[in-house]
Amino acid sequence: MRLAADVFVASLSAAAAAAAPGGPRSRRASVALAGGSTPRGLYRLLAAPGEPYRGCLLWEHIHFFWGDERHVPPDHPDSNFRMARETMLDPAAVPPGNVHRIPAEEPDAGSAAARYEAELVRFFALAPGERPRFDLVLLGLGEEGHTASLFPGSPVLDERTRLAAAPWVEAHREFRITLTPPAINGAALVAFLVSGEAKAAALAAVLEGELRPERYPAQIVRPDSGKLLWLVDRAAASGLSASAAR
Ligand code: 6PG
Repeated sequence: MRLAADVFVASLSAAAAAAAPGGPRSRRASVALAGGSTPRGLYRLLAAPGEPYRGCLLWEHIHFFWGDERHVPPDHPDSNFRMARETMLDPAAVPPGNVHRIPAEEPDAGSAAARYEAELVRFFALAPGERPRFDLVLLGLGEEGHTASLFPGSPVLDERTRLAAAPWVEAHREFRITLTPPAINGAALVAFLVSGEAKAAALAAVLEGELRPERYPAQIVRPDSGKLLWLVDRAAASGLSASAAR
């Protein structure tokens, strides 16, 4: 997790410093957080008082978004927002105005996605057809190869214009709200965080199998001009060919 924390600090502290008063640019630093359980340890580490990371980050110049959200209220145990708030945003005293959560309490998931897209357009001052350029997008990998809430066979995999969508996810029998491939691929850096033996088969298929994004949606993440980083532990890498697993 320390390597992930180093990447988080490196990608955001430069951007935040530049966004500080008098910095070379007025644009604020921005990150889209991953949900699920893997990043929990990273978020705790970043905000931990006794660790070196908290003091490295200009939290007041960093704006927090999410890659996806379950269709639940923000205080629900399954909420990705709640997980990040409890592990990082509250402990680091991130100003509320810097937190741009997906309004997943909306009864209609499509309306939540539309509101989230409007917030992205506002924050990044996007002209029609433009994509947000997050300084960092953190993503996880599902055991069957999904990422964010881009699941195998989902129509949202073919989305080329909208920035947020609300697909029905049969595997979970629920709607999700997610960034779309264009919204993710506009980032300056996309970092996958993958841990555990259970992800080994999916990781090998995504990285070393044939290109089939409709089956392995994580393959659809190919930043237009940004960088792509895979932060993987040994257990998750155990299915990779020897050359790749070094
Ligand atoms: C979510 C995530 C999802 C997650 C993967 C991995 O809302 O669950 O965004 O894409 O990153 O499913 O989840 P774990 O980290 O819990 O294995």
